Amino acid sequence: MTVSARDMMIAARKGGYGIGAFNINNLEWTQSVLKGAQEANAPIIVQTSMGAAKYMGGYKLVVDMVNDLIDSMGITVPIALHLDHGNYEAAKTCIDAGFSSIMFDGSSLPFEENLEKTRELAQICKDRGISLEAEVGAIGGEEDGVVGMGECADPDECKAIADCGVDMLACGIGNIHGVYPEGWPGLRFDVLDAIIDKVGEDLPLVLHGGSGIPDAMVQEAVRKGVSKINVNTELQLVFAAKTREYIEAGKDKEGKGFDPRKLLAPGTAACVDMVKYKIDVFGSTNKA
Ligand code: 13P
Repeated sequence: MTVSARDMMIAARKGGYGIGAFNINNLEWTQSVLKGAQEANAPIIVQTSMGAAKYMGGYKLVVDMVNDLIDSMGITVPIALHLDHGNYEAAKTCIDAGFSSIMFDGSSLPFEENLEKTRELAQICKDRGISLEAEVGAIGGEEDGVVGMGECADPDECKAIADCGVDMLACGIGNIHGVYPEGWPGLRFDVLDAIIDKVGEDLPLVLHGGSGIPDAMVQEAVRKGVSKINVNTELQLVFAAKTREYIEAGKDKEGKGFDPRKLLAPGTAACVDMVKYKIDVFGSTNKA
């Protein structure tokens, strides 16, 4: 069974390490993320955007798939199933569908409305034992067709949202979803420091756009107070590269190499390796 992300986030914040939150896109992705976590003996968050959940067949299917795989694969490390960038309606649907963790992303709403809805959802999640992530300041880049401008979060707004009783807070510090553009100036540690000054040392912070940030920069963010790091694009890139290699080597034309169980195997294996690599960079290997 999946668990709330609350305890793993508190332990990570206290212990000074980060929890990997990996986006899933299909069955193979889910298997590789779970396998990577088990082999690294690490607690992780399996997450899906609204769009990816729709692609896979809906929220209920995702809940059943993740819980069934935890059973059939003999996964013993703590796994949270998290809605990534959910709107208000999706957050409520996923709470009822059996997700163990929710992100309500009200960053595109007027701030007062974000605050009000975050407060309401925080109470519902608390009553149900589900962890809640909220967001202040849109994350840059593009996620499921929503394009953010990469603004940095306002520390006072972070404090107000934190006071709603959320378990973790996503706040823009110059991070961007997707591939980082040439000349990206890096994370704004001055903004991160100012946010921590306001929200305090206990609240786990979330770094979206975890793909492509230099390892040392992520580790510095973790050292300061980032406890959840989201990774999607790097898994997609490595999956695509390995699948391309397989096809370009003509392996799909050898025997039954076109069988999806063979065709998708190199990409799936590469995702397992990437998950384990990221967990190690975040410092959560053997923290299960
Ligand atoms: P990347 O695709 O840049 O890794 O970002 C993932 C993410 O933040 C999901 O919310």
